[in-house]
Amino acid sequence: MKHSFLLAFLLVIASLHRAVAQEPDIDDPSSVKAHYKIQKTVTCSNGAVVSAHPLASRAGLSVMKKGGNAVDAAIATQLALAVVYPGAGNIGGGGFMVARLANGKNLAIDYREKAPAAAGRDMYLDANGNPQMNLSQNGHLASGVPGTIAGLFASLKYAKLPFSVLIEPAIELAEKGFEITANEANGLNAYKNAFIKYNSVQPAFVKETPWKAGDTLVQKDLAATLKRIRDLGQKGFYEGETAKLIVEEMQRGKGLISYEDLKNYQAKERTALVFPYKGYSIVSMPMPSSGGVIINQALRMIEDKNIGKMGFASVGAVQLMVEAERRAYADRAEFMGDADFVKVPVKKLTSDAYIKERFSDYDPTKAGSSETTKAGKINPESEETTHLSVIDKFGNAVSVTTTLNGGYGSKTVVGGAGFLLNNEMDDFSVKPGVPNMYGALGTEANAIAPGKRMLSSMTPTIVLKAGKPFLVVGTPGGTTIPTSVFQSIVNVIDFKLSTADAVYKPKFHHQWQPDEIYVEKGFPEKTIDGLKAMGYKVNVRGSIGRTEAIRVLPGGKFEAVADNRGDDAAEGY
Ligand code: DON
Repeated sequence: MKHSFLLAFLLVIASLHRAVAQEPDIDDPSSVKAHYKIQKTVTCSNGAVVSAHPLASRAGLSVMKKGGNAVDAAIATQLALAVVYPGAGNIGGGGFMVARLANGKNLAIDYREKAPAAAGRDMYLDANGNPQMNLSQNGHLASGVPGTIAGLFASLKYAKLPFSVLIEPAIELAEKGFEITANEANGLNAYKNAFIKYNSVQPAFVKETPWKAGDTLVQKDLAATLKRIRDLGQKGFYEGETAKLIVEEMQRGKGLISYEDLKNYQAKERTALVFPYKGYSIVSMPMPSSGGVIINQALRMIEDKNIGKMGFASVGAVQLMVEAERRAYADRAEFMGDADFVKVPVKKLTSDAYIKERFSDYDPTKAGSSETTKAGKINPESEETTHLSVIDKFGNAVSVTTTLNGGYGSKTVVGGAGFLLNNEMDDFSVKPGVPNMYGALGTEANAIAPGKRMLSSMTPTIVLKAGKPFLVVGTPGGTTIPTSVFQSIVNVIDFKLSTADAVYKPKFHHQWQPDEIYVEKGFPEKTIDGLKAMGYKVNVRGSIGRTEAIRVLPGGKFEAVADNRGDDAAEGY
């Protein structure tokens, strides 16, 4: 009963909002303050952008219309997200970009945060060796050295337009303000106390009365920071005034990031992880993301099982995928970390012989079992990362996942600079056997060390068909990211679902520990009962991820689909 009242209330709010919505003029920058509508799907031929916020998708589209390519659009979209989607869009966090360029080159740009030089293996343990997760998750000590701006400049050499053009929409949105959505209002209200607690300089996100949909959020300090980056390039962030403001903020809250940490930060071009699946070629992110290896293992474990025949969301299909996920995540916990610091046996983990052997004990009649290791609970409330998918008429496709880690990161805004810092240090294993905020376990491979990158699950991915982009896909969701990408690919290739169904249909997740299957609300009851009968523990949880997908249709048109689990929007022309 309570629920139906809530639903009715939300529907009234939604219809009121729609009633005032007007068609935006996406070419007119002065329209950024206008009411906007959220378009969930678009089919087009020249270029498409899907991201977590309509104004960010529009920013990307506007630079493509000015002659930019998909990389230009990805840069402009990320910068706009840092303004209009502060819970996850960022310049104080990090991310990964995977791209397939028109010339056939694959890119994997790593701009993951790094542990500050003063960080140490046991920095989150108290005198008795007990983990203090509050410190790895909130406030100044939780932040790694941000990588996003270095990543955008590393991407710029594949773009066509000057950086000043790409950052303009973000500056305008920060300076003039924009109208926030109901979801953003809820987020800012929910975190108000945390913003007050973790900041001594009051951020623009705090106001006396509660935020509501349609309120204008102006971020003057952030606009000034973005202008410094426009005028001075990467140094506008990592040196000079912005660096000074970051270091001063660290000093106010006993954080570790120093001038040297900032100056030394470098994005890295990695070799993309590429593997075949049923005649397609999958291009994804290598270490320090676990995502590429996980989807490689999982897809190849199920490849010879004819899952398409079993039926979408059938007990047999879900069980098969869960058992593949269980094994891949066990490997994640044991072997994966920053390969610049530890030896990660990627070749072995993805070899045909290993995959075959690893799945040889799969039993289609009953639930497998994870060894009893201290396991954590998944915490869906605090998740916030964001993904964008872009494609252009030149033949380039770009897949970017970027994050502050938890919702609004460390909750600390750099005083005078107006941007949130990440709480990415929690992605390290603070102690073997102690789960992080996503319930992920780790060992030595992902222990903290100065200058090391924390292991990620972010899985920006591009599926190629006959060497050309076919599906651009990715999502936020912490440890659920690789399993969502895995499902999206299987949904399209094996179950032949429409792109919208592949994105919207309820998802499921298993990560070895805890030894439980998580399913989204709305997952078929019959399948849940069938899995339970086989011996699985099944938990219904809140939404899993926010997948943004673009599929290239036969004939070459782009079909872009934004997830319906948030304000996500697709734009194209
Ligand atoms: O890099 C990672 O794996 C995490 N920091 C991602 C966090 C995330 O996806 C939260 N989002 N919903």
